Amino acid sequence: MNPRKFHLKNFGCQMNKLDSGLLFNALSSRGYVHTEKAGEADIIIINTCSVRQHAEDRVLSHLGHIKHLKKTHPALRVAVIGCMAQRLGEELLQHDSVDIVAGPGQLAEVPRLIDEVFDTHDSRMAITESIRRPDNLEHQQILDEFEMNYDSDKNHIKSQAFIRAMRGCNNFCTYCIVPYVRGPEISRPPEMVLEQARKLVDSGIRQITLLGQSINAYRWQQGDKTWTLADLLEKVSDIAGVHWVRFITSNPGHFDDSILQVMADLPKVCPYLHIPAQSGSDRILKAMNRGYTSAYYMALMDKARATVPDIAIAGDFIVGFPGETHQDYQATAELIRRVRYKNCFIFKYSPRPGTRAEQKLADDIPDELKQQRNMELLEIVNQIAEQDNQRFIGKTLEVLVEGPSKKAHLNAANSDNNPQLIGRTAHDYIVVFNGPASLAGHFVNVSISKTSALTLFGTLV
Ligand code: SAH
Ligand code: SF4
Ligand code: F3S
Repeated sequence: MNPRKFHLKNFGCQMNKLDSGLLFNALSSRGYVHTEKAGEADIIIINTCSVRQHAEDRVLSHLGHIKHLKKTHPALRVAVIGCMAQRLGEELLQHDSVDIVAGPGQLAEVPRLIDEVFDTHDSRMAITESIRRPDNLEHQQILDEFEMNYDSDKNHIKSQAFIRAMRGCNNFCTYCIVPYVRGPEISRPPEMVLEQARKLVDSGIRQITLLGQSINAYRWQQGDKTWTLADLLEKVSDIAGVHWVRFITSNPGHFDDSILQVMADLPKVCPYLHIPAQSGSDRILKAMNRGYTSAYYMALMDKARATVPDIAIAGDFIVGFPGETHQDYQATAELIRRVRYKNCFIFKYSPRPGTRAEQKLADDIPDELKQQRNMELLEIVNQIAEQDNQRFIGKTLEVLVEGPSKKAHLNAANSDNNPQLIGRTAHDYIVVFNGPASLAGHFVNVSISKTSALTLFGTLV
């Protein structure tokens, strides 16, 4: 019998990308063969996100397409995994297209569930019941083992890998679904993270990104010592062969100075901080349960710039949170002007079922106004970035090459043996230049000749 083919589609954040990578490796070692083409697959796996309604709508429309595919390929099986699977459970299993539903906590079980649906032709569901129950140790061990066994560089951008430092979240920002689908906040033992890092480096990885929903909250008690994120960054950066180490995402609350200090002191720790403010209005921040004021946030950003002078700061904002007045919105615009972000992700508020905001506050800002605020804030962010990026013209920057650029940029000619490549700097700036595709995964120097709000253009030195 020919090996079964799997197709894996990912929605959602870096956590999901990491989970998809682990599953890719687990299925490959089980004898399944990956295919880029959904039409050729025996099993389609969709890793889903619940953070906004739009993310779920995309999955539902995708399942609609698959319904047609199933008519012509009756043997096709479909697994929906990830955060939306955890949120909807049984409701998703009722969907015509779906054979398997599995939450993020059941990732390690997915290969077995897939075997079973082929063997039995039944459907399967595995999600975490009462997800906020402090997780039992055994469950963590299963996930950790899965994480260790299937971590390799096979399914990542060449030379780059994610390592989970923490699972879950305890912050309960009132708008956010993550604590309800990813469960309680748990730090992973440092020796596990470091062993994974060493293993990945041995297999050719040069950049490691540590993941957590509020990664600055990382804590691990070992005898008298409490490990913090700063300790973890230091130890990862001590590993010979690690070239860059970064971390996402930071929460402004309880952000300790030691993290800024290792950024300043250790050349391998990338001077890039993704630290969402969400709003510049204290009234809204309070309603969001973010636990800080805009003055606190701005003072923290001033401290970050004073400690790490060339630091690149990125942010997230939500516009149209319930009750957001023009004044609240202006306070956000003001904060953006003050902080001068490298880039920001700006989202329209989307009520998530079961969250406190959804239950207690009316979604009272009309969509057109959310849209308008979203566009205006992006405009401000881009204007600032466009100005600030001009300082790179004439400079030579070190770039980790990802590979050929998917979209053609205008300023460089394209040819087969000298295609347009894309890469990132330590500060996470996107750089586009021409060079041989074989440079993917390598560090190169690029002399910058042109800049825009989101991209730097240059030539290989
Ligand atoms: N843990 C990270 C972010 C997780 S979700 C952190 O706290 O920084 C990524 C982003 O999605 C958030 O920063 C927020 O800006 C946005 N987001 C989360 N819930 C949302 C909602 N209900 N509507 C709109 N945007 C939301
Ligand atoms: Fe959601 Fe807040 Fe946790 Fe981030 S910190 S994942 S926004 S609850
Ligand atoms: Fe990530 Fe979306 Fe889940 S942002 S943690 S995939 S809800």
